[in-house]
Amino acid sequence: MNKTFSIIKPDATKRNITGSINKLIEDNGLRIIAQKRIHLDTAKAEKFYEVHKDRPFYRDLINYMISEPVVVQVLEGDNAVNKYRDLIGSTDPNKAKEGSIRKLYALNTTQNSVHASDSLENAKREIEFFF
Ligand code: CMP
Repeated sequence: MNKTFSIIKPDATKRNITGSINKLIEDNGLRIIAQKRIHLDTAKAEKFYEVHKDRPFYRDLINYMISEPVVVQVLEGDNAVNKYRDLIGSTDPNKAKEGSIRKLYALNTTQNSVHASDSLENAKREIEFFF
């Protein structure tokens, strides 16, 4: 058993599909053990995505992440980090596999409905950042 961190992003909260995403999470054997709906401010979004600060998409990403509320979550399960990354699919929805959350719901590479931690170490850091 381990834990991972998830964000249901503004494009998804705006379209009222957090329940549909949570159903996929639960149907895939992950347990939502904590979640809260928050509205990020610029400083918090910038800090969370600090690793991307020199990337060309950074400012658009920050503006998008503060545009609507998000739902931050802690998910638990066997191999939770890899299992959830597999479930969400590739960053670019055109490359995401059939049945994945991003294939089903993402609008484009920035507005891609969900975030998942990419390692156990980052999961721990990201959970502590929000909970
Ligand atoms: P996420 O998994 O939250 O991590 C970084 C985010 O930056 C990513 O999802 C997307 O929302 C956004 N993003 C926008 N463009 C790109 C890109 N070209 N490559 C990676 N991430 C991008």
